Amino acid sequence: MSIENRFNKYDRSDMLENVLALPDQMREVWNSSSDFILSRPSAGSTLVICGMGGSAIGAVLIRDLVNKNSDFSVHIERGYLLPAYASANSTVICVSYSGNTEEVLTLFDEAVQRGCEIGVITSGGELGRRAAEANASVMNIRGGLPPRAAIGLLFTSLLRLVVNWGIYRITDEEFTELLKKARFIIKEITPGYNSKDNLAFQLSKKLYKKIPLIYAGDGLLKGVSYRWKCQFNENGKIMAYSNIFPELGHNEIMGWECPDNIKKNLFLIFLIDRDDHPKVQKRMQVTYSMLEKLAGDSVVIDSSWYGNNSGGRLERLLSMLILGDMMSVYLAVGRGVDPTPIEKIETIKKLLKMGES
Ligand code: PA5
Repeated sequence: MSIENRFNKYDRSDMLENVLALPDQMREVWNSSSDFILSRPSAGSTLVICGMGGSAIGAVLIRDLVNKNSDFSVHIERGYLLPAYASANSTVICVSYSGNTEEVLTLFDEAVQRGCEIGVITSGGELGRRAAEANASVMNIRGGLPPRAAIGLLFTSLLRLVVNWGIYRITDEEFTELLKKARFIIKEITPGYNSKDNLAFQLSKKLYKKIPLIYAGDGLLKGVSYRWKCQFNENGKIMAYSNIFPELGHNEIMGWECPDNIKKNLFLIFLIDRDDHPKVQKRMQVTYSMLEKLAGDSVVIDSSWYGNNSGGRLERLLSMLILGDMMSVYLAVGRGVDPTPIEKIETIKKLLKMGES
């Protein structure tokens, strides 16, 4: 069956369309987010961004994008407790696409109690209601998508803030250029477009019967490696794991002494970026030469894979986001599964709700 037919048969809720719509989503929020105003965190302070799963990913990518230029740090809270330091002087942003995620609602209430300055990014739900009641600053985004497929809406809401704060610089014209680049990158790996050289399609075929281990440096691609893992889990319905250099060289590396029959099922994916710390680059080279012989399959992907060696940080970040997302939908339809349903995630939420009543 051709890949186009496989999409028709298995991608019943159009996850592919959502992935292709990334630049449109980014444009939509860029045009409508100028009223989303929050105080800039002060130098030396910590911005806390609360969110779970698909709603946390935008924050993860923003953290990696601005890490180099920011005079405040970014903490992403994915639990039920705000860090002890969050106080009336702190800015806390609560992100939940549905607006009904238990952990985020708990953190929101805690932030209100502590008198933090609060921003909310949501399509509505209970969080939207509580935010209006508490007079929090709200970025209302369009609903109706799987949260992980709303990445363009979620990410750009935060991008707008860091641009307003002067932490990341991009003009309207540069933003338009960026979206053009994103469309070009998407075209390079869209079904039907030159499938022999289609990197996402070719890589996805290596994933069908393997467990991907996605390794990146602790810089621009740290969150991307986690996004790939989550997209392979949720869209592709396979096991996948990610880890980060240099830390993994101090523990996980020993796992490669596991039995050969396990190693041969591992697909080692190295994500590299030219801004990775020089010592991290060296560690990655040395480690790859050791591990490629052990893994069932392996590949190194440079964040300039689409052929522009002078692309900026945001362009490279998006190129890797797009590549992983496209791989995950090819993986799903290649395996004959619908990328959209996430039955087990929903079942857990339902069971917890039932336990409450
Ligand atoms: O991908 C998903 O659907 C999940 O990871 C959700 O994003 C997560 O459960 C949190 O829900 P929400 O994004 O609506 O806050």
